[in-house]
Amino acid sequence: MSKTQPFGKLISLNIKIKSLLLTKKITTIGRSSSNDIQIHDAKISKKHCIIQFKEKKIQDKKTKYFIKIIDNSSNGVFVNSRLIGTKKSVELKHGYEITFVKPRQNGRPIPQYRFFFHDLKLVKEVENKNEIQKNYQFCWELDEGGYGKVFLATRNETFETVAIKTIPKDKFYDPKKEGWQSQKVKYVNEINILKDLQHPNIIKLEEVYDTENTLYLVMEYVDGGDLFYRISDKQKYAEDEARELFKNLLETIKYLHGKGIVHRDLKPDNILLSNKESDTDIKVCDFGFARTVSESGLVSTKVGTNNYRAPETLTKGSFGKECDLWSCGVILYILLSGLMPFHNKKRIPLHQQILWASYSFPEDVFEKISPAAINLIRKLIQVNPEKRLTAEQALNHPWILNQSEQITDPMEGIEQN
Ligand SMILES: Nc1ncnc2c1ncn2[C@@H]1O[C@H](COP(=O)(O)OP(=O)(O)O)[C@@H](O)[C@H]1O
Ligand SMILES: [Mg+2]
Repeated sequence: MSKTQPFGKLISLNIKIKSLLLTKKITTIGRSSSNDIQIHDAKISKKHCIIQFKEKKIQDKKTKYFIKIIDNSSNGVFVNSRLIGTKKSVELKHGYEITFVKPRQNGRPIPQYRFFFHDLKLVKEVENKNEIQKNYQFCWELDEGGYGKVFLATRNETFETVAIKTIPKDKFYDPKKEGWQSQKVKYVNEINILKDLQHPNIIKLEEVYDTENTLYLVMEYVDGGDLFYRISDKQKYAEDEARELFKNLLETIKYLHGKGIVHRDLKPDNILLSNKESDTDIKVCDFGFARTVSESGLVSTKVGTNNYRAPETLTKGSFGKECDLWSCGVILYILLSGLMPFHNKKRIPLHQQILWASYSFPEDVFEKISPAAINLIRKLIQVNPEKRLTAEQALNHPWILNQSEQITDPMEGIEQN
C-alpha cells in the first residue's frame, strides 16, 4: 500500500487500543487481523471503517488534500455523534471524534471505542511555545479579542510578517465539564473552516500549532486595521466608496454561503482593511463562530455583539445564512451614516429594537443619501429572514449595480406592516 508523509493521527481513548500515526493512503480498522487497527469484539465488523487520504492537483502546481472516513460496518461509525451510514463517507477534520457502536446519550456509558482525529498536515503538534518561537519572533500584541490575543510576529526564515492568534483551550475545553466533546469541536471550528477557504477577501490561515493549552493560528497579516477604526477615522463613507466596499463584502458572503458556511459574527471589528491606502479592499476575519450549515443545521448558541444580531438569532437561536445579511444591512447603515441603527442608549431596549426592526433614518444625515441605498438597507434589515435579500440578490440590487436612479422611493418593493 502506498505511503505518504504522516497526514494524521488517530488518538485512541481506549487504553487497550493503540493510537496510530496515519501514513497510508488507505487505513482500515476492524475485527480481522489484516486491519491497521484491530479490535477483538464481535460488535465490530471485520472491516469496520476505512480512512482514505487523497491529493488533488489544483492550479499553480499546488495540491489540495482530502481525508475521508468510510463506514463499512453493520453497527455504525459515528463522527461527532452522527452516524455516517453504510458505505457512506464524510470528510474528517481536525479534532473530530470517531466512535463505533451507538455513542452515549445522556446518562449512557461512554462509547468503548473512541478516537480523536488530528490533521497533521494542518496542525503541528508541539510541546510548548518555544517550538513556535523557533520559527517565529513574536513582536507585539495587535489586539485582545474575546477569545485570546492576536500578535504581530515575523517568520524567522523569511522575515515575513504574520498575525498569530492565540486561543487558550481552557475557554472551550474542559473534560471535567458537561458536554465537553461538543466544546472541543467548537475550538477547532475556526481552523477547519479557514483551512478550506481561498478568497482574496478572506484572511488566509497559513499554519496552526497545537500545544497542550493553546492553539496558535498563524495567519496572513494585513496592516490596514479594522473597519471599526477606519469608520471612526473617516466618520463615514461617501456613497461610491461604500458601494465598492459593500460589493466586496457581499461577494465574500456569497462565496461563504455557496460553501455552506455562515459567518454569524459579521461586524466592523471582524472586517480588516488590506492596507492603509485603500478604504475598500477588505479581508474578513474571525471565523470563531462560523459554522457549516449542512453540518449542524441551525445551531443555537449566543454569539456575536448584539448590535449586529438578526432577530431570529435572538428569539429562536437560529443562525441560517440570512443572519449574515441582516448584519450586512447594519454595516451598510453605519458606513453611510457613521451612526448605529440599533444601540443601547435608546429608550427601547436593544433586544426589542432588533425584534421590531425599530430604527430610523435621521433626516439630517440621510437626506443626501440616495433612496436606492436606503432601499437596500431596508431590504437587508428585514425582520422576516425569508423576505430578506440573499447575498446574490443584494449584488443585483440597483444601488450595487450603480443604477441608483431606478429607485426613487426608498420603500419600493417593501411590504408595509
Ligand atoms: N490577520 C490579521 N492581521 C491584522 N490584524 C488582525 C488579524 N487578525 C486579527 N487582527 C486584529 O485582531 C482583532 C481580533 O481578532 P479576531 O480574529 O477578530 O479575534 P476575536 O475572536 O478575539 O475577536 C481584529 O479585530 C483585528 O484588529
Ligand atoms: Mg473578532
